[in-house]
Amino acid sequence: MTDHPILFIPGPTEVDAELRQILAMPLIGHRDKRFVAEVQAVCAKLETLFLTAGAAQGGATLFENAPATALMEAGIRNLVPRGARVLHLVCGAFSERWAKISKACGRAAETITVPWGESVTPAALRHALTTAPQPFAAVCITHCETSTSVLAPLQQLAETVREHAPDTLVLCDTVTSLAGAELQFDAWGLDLAFAGTQKCLALPPGLVVYAVSPRAVERAATVDERGFLLDFLAARAGLAEGKTLATPNVPLVYALSAQLDRIATEGLPARWRRHLAMQQRTLAFAADHGMVPLAPEGCRSPTVTALRATGHDIAELAARARTAGFAFDQGYGKLKGEAFRIGHMGDHTESRLQRLLDALVA
Ligand SMILES: Cc1ncc(COP(=O)(O)O)c(C=O)c1O
Repeated sequence: MTDHPILFIPGPTEVDAELRQILAMPLIGHRDKRFVAEVQAVCAKLETLFLTAGAAQGGATLFENAPATALMEAGIRNLVPRGARVLHLVCGAFSERWAKISKACGRAAETITVPWGESVTPAALRHALTTAPQPFAAVCITHCETSTSVLAPLQQLAETVREHAPDTLVLCDTVTSLAGAELQFDAWGLDLAFAGTQKCLALPPGLVVYAVSPRAVERAATVDERGFLLDFLAARAGLAEGKTLATPNVPLVYALSAQLDRIATEGLPARWRRHLAMQQRTLAFAADHGMVPLAPEGCRSPTVTALRATGHDIAELAARARTAGFAFDQGYGKLKGEAFRIGHMGDHTESRLQRLLDALVA
């Protein structure tokens, strides 16, 4: 047992003691030279995480004090001109939220919607793109739909957009995939990707990190009313000089910097493999106990698994987890009580996950 319940929920995730210690640092001012240098260092380290050339090629890797939802909105405000159409691939709660955000921003949002637990296919996307009366300004894709644990075939979807709608930008919610599932910003031809610190980065909530492509920077320059705090062009210019627009969470920026070093030491491919191994362990456990993954084979996320609890009482599973010292998720939105989720993301290990799985059936 530890001094607190270990978080196996799909965010916020468990934060390592070494990082918690950094978060307790004495504050320094955000205009202090040391912090200005740290901001620039973090932006450079984010290039390695997103696998992008970033600033050197006209794009950028940036961060802001905000939840990830703020970037869903900023992506629309910066990259979808008023009057233009935007296509959302909707397959669960968070992709649905993004379409609502576009509408709330007054944009003409269209959707391809599939039932929760399924993924929009490249064929369905191709059909929507090739039958559209005029090109969409952007396609919004949720890489890992955390509510259902479906991982979209992002690389193929992005390729489909590039092939059939070359002027359409590819905007990606990578909130529960970045630093846990394979993600290659430049090689896959993405234009925006973002994640909050509280998921696979295994830090507290508070910062959102994001990457924009050179095409996105060019598009933003043509869009009026990009907003203020999350104006991509202002953020890009400011952070290049280590200047955040507003007062950031200084300790969290230092913890992010340290965590990016730790991720580099582990190595991204090794980190992706560790997440896959945790997914495999969870799926093997499910098979042994008659539980059924909600996501079909071929589109299961390595970072979170939603399981139909067939023959088991979810409240009872949660009680067992709690007794063994783990925080446990009982299902999201309309799946609550039907399919629970195990968030095997961040700095968790296979052995710690196994302790949770054993406790569930003890
Ligand atoms: C896929 C996805 N998108 C967006 C969000 C929203 O993140 P935040 O709560 O940081 O705004 C979440 C949160 O769980 C998520 O899982």
